[in-house]
Amino acid sequence: MSGETTTGGDPQLERELHRVGAELAAAFPSTARHPLRKLDSRAMQLASSDRELRAALFRFVDVVPACRSLEDLARHLTGFLEELPDAPAPIAAAMRIAHTRAGRAALGAAAAGGVRHMAHRFIVGENPKAALTVLRGLWEEGVASSVDLLGEATVTREQAERYAQRCGQALEQLAQAARGWPSRPILESDSSGPLPRANVSVKISALTPLLRPDAPELGREDAAGRLRPLLRQAAALGAHIHIDMESLDSREAVLDLTLELLAEPEFAHGPSAGLVLQAYLRDSPEQLGKIIDWVRSARRTPPLQVRLVKGAYWDHELIQARQHGWPTPVFEVKADCDRNFESLTRTLLAARPSLRVAIASHNLRSVAHAIAANRLAGGEDRDLELQVLRGLGDELQDALAARGFRVRTYCPVGDLVAGMAYLVRRLLENTSNESFLHEQASGTPLEQLLAAP
Ligand code: 2OP
Repeated sequence: MSGETTTGGDPQLERELHRVGAELAAAFPSTARHPLRKLDSRAMQLASSDRELRAALFRFVDVVPACRSLEDLARHLTGFLEELPDAPAPIAAAMRIAHTRAGRAALGAAAAGGVRHMAHRFIVGENPKAALTVLRGLWEEGVASSVDLLGEATVTREQAERYAQRCGQALEQLAQAARGWPSRPILESDSSGPLPRANVSVKISALTPLLRPDAPELGREDAAGRLRPLLRQAAALGAHIHIDMESLDSREAVLDLTLELLAEPEFAHGPSAGLVLQAYLRDSPEQLGKIIDWVRSARRTPPLQVRLVKGAYWDHELIQARQHGWPTPVFEVKADCDRNFESLTRTLLAARPSLRVAIASHNLRSVAHAIAANRLAGGEDRDLELQVLRGLGDELQDALAARGFRVRTYCPVGDLVAGMAYLVRRLLENTSNESFLHEQASGTPLEQLLAAP
């Protein structure tokens, strides 16, 4: 792959992409509130520098669903950190405090305070009702949202039922509130028809405690029992349901379950639904081929939306593969992933109108590439959705909305305990030295930000 330009050496596409990129960069609001400045804490620096620490954080994420309080979380965190062969000085100091009960409580409280501070950037409210003001504010500014109810990898049936119930309530409350929002034509339709205002993203690992790679049918069936009523409800309310992709060990189960359910006759004409394609996976082109074959044969309406992302479980996949001696399923070189992202973007754009395309990235080049490729293929801007994460893509979000593009922000809702795994993923992504946001914040010139990967 290396040596080739991603646009296949198409100078016209490169020219248009640079023009769009410069236009967006000029529309960026002041960089004073850049997320990275705020993220640039000691914790971030530590997590960037230490591979063992990243692995400890991932092991910690596995126990999060079983924790009941922030203090409980802190206790588990210290347990994992204790295993670090060479704990960085601030962590070693924290571990010394944690040897007594009072120390653990103090550490728990300090960790809780730090996490609370960080979390407020990413989480829009403790529950959907509390989040509605923010969601309406975004909508008024020309930004659509997808609500993600925090909580994943449930360990009990009760937790799974509770999550399904919360999704149902969120659909209801959101659909009802959204009826009173003012009209925003760019956000409400494309050439395939209307786009729902209420949009909820769902994690299958939260809908069943039985999602295991060695027995995928069990988890699939259990999750189907909870997803079907949600699809029915979304269809009745005219809302959109988006199925998130998680780590690779559940990917086949999640994809098969989603496509199977959506192919059922009762869902032939709704609800509006979508799924995710992760470009960091080496086999993502084959996965996309499978999705395109499905949309062409299922011919359901409205068209399935595919959200193209780079992928949020990179550290996890790498650590898993190394631990088991498996070949790495993800691209290890960022440029390879970025090139694949661009190639998948063009394949997706060419597959319309059988599907709807959402490009989710904070990377200015990836976004400008999608806009330029769409225009050069004769597509309309309104047939391309751009997505960002709350708290990370705020400036890009504002620039896109200001330039009249349809932008949707992924908005986590929930409490901090439920949000911990999500926060750790954001922490790991944004401590990567290769992160686009990192480069942008460190003042890399625009030409370099837009250069072919
Ligand atoms: C995540 O939960 C954004 O779905 C992505 O990390």
